[in-house]
Amino acid sequence: MTVTFLDPPWLHDSNTSTSGLSGSLRERRLILDAAFQEFTQRTGIRVKHLPTPESPQDQLALIRNLLQKGAVTPDVYDLDVIWPGILSEYLIDLKPYFTSELRSEAPEMLASYTVQGKVVGIPYRPYAGVLFYRTDLLRKYGYDRPPRTWDELEKMAFRIQKGERAKGEKDFWGFVWPGAAAEGLVCNALEWQVDEGGGRIIEDNGKISVNNPATIRAWERATRWVGWISPPSVTSYQELDAGNIFWISGRAAFFRGWATNEFLRNPPGVPFRDKAGVTSVPGGKTGRADTLGGFGLGVSRWSAHRPEAIKLVEFLTHREAQLEAVQSHSEIPSRPEAYELPTILKAYTRPGNQDEELAGKIVVRPSSITGKKYDDVAQAYIRALHSVLTRESKAPEAAAALEKKLVEITGFETETPPKEF
Ligand code: GLC
Repeated sequence: MTVTFLDPPWLHDSNTSTSGLSGSLRERRLILDAAFQEFTQRTGIRVKHLPTPESPQDQLALIRNLLQKGAVTPDVYDLDVIWPGILSEYLIDLKPYFTSELRSEAPEMLASYTVQGKVVGIPYRPYAGVLFYRTDLLRKYGYDRPPRTWDELEKMAFRIQKGERAKGEKDFWGFVWPGAAAEGLVCNALEWQVDEGGGRIIEDNGKISVNNPATIRAWERATRWVGWISPPSVTSYQELDAGNIFWISGRAAFFRGWATNEFLRNPPGVPFRDKAGVTSVPGGKTGRADTLGGFGLGVSRWSAHRPEAIKLVEFLTHREAQLEAVQSHSEIPSRPEAYELPTILKAYTRPGNQDEELAGKIVVRPSSITGKKYDDVAQAYIRALHSVLTRESKAPEAAAALEKKLVEITGFETETPPKEF
């Protein structure tokens, strides 16, 4: 008996390249392979592990296509937190099988995997948006902690960039982030907006809030970074491109990436691993926000091995919980050095570093409220913001045009400024 598992987060392992971040992430595949072996030993069920394409959009297209045509395999899917609303009709309700596990899940996470009362994914590996920083460079330039606000980040990034360039590192940049026209941009920009009190594009009450002065200011601020503390080509960086500059070539002081518990326990063996620190994303007027990302496990309604598929979901989520419990009591110092991390990252952090007031609050993309339309909403948002970052349009006009477009796509009403913030 074999259960087939389609697993977007492990796509990088399948890349043939051995250099750069994608090559080093290969190590992590070994960890999961060991878990599958243990599962097979215990249950006699084998696991066929399939990778996916790199971009979230291509991943979704592949998965949607398989489910729409009623493919009997894969049986288990690892689902991005923004997909449940789009795929729910093809996935079984897992609530009856996981009642006790679900009770201990963070509400924002559970909400993202619940569609009309049906739980279509069990949170497995939450990601939080974080800021990685170079501990050695902060120290060298006299900073005793990473930035808490964008103002602080700009100052530090600029000073370090100037200093490193003066020492001959001509291609050194203060801050790298994924600015390409892709889902990663929604995740980053949500943090910029929420920090300023600009809301979450579409609020939980179904009101479109994106066209407001705080959001416009946040977009304009990020546009100023391009060519100043961030490379001009940042607007074409995917997540791995930005990550490679920070982790592999060491040519940036700050990098907005993702952290998972798994990552904190087992950071990849990359050249700048021991010099890196990790903290919440900097904030603005209303505090700090870290976008929720990550994956949950769902079972296809077309699966011919439903009980076995559910067993695999149980096994993987329990194993993750056990690792967390062991790790949070362990004395092993974590790498990279953790500081003011968002609370969903439960893996070991150094005592004394954790001040919940100063840590970022988790924010979710508007995927539950927009359901099947999330993808169109995200694409419209990406197009509008990307045209601002590349200076093809001005933020106020782009936000106004986006608002109209979102009304067209969703049929929702507008609300500016957003009530929640
Ligand atoms: C990460 C996150 C996912 C997000 C994607 C964007 O994979 O886990 O939630 O959609 O990045 O690129």
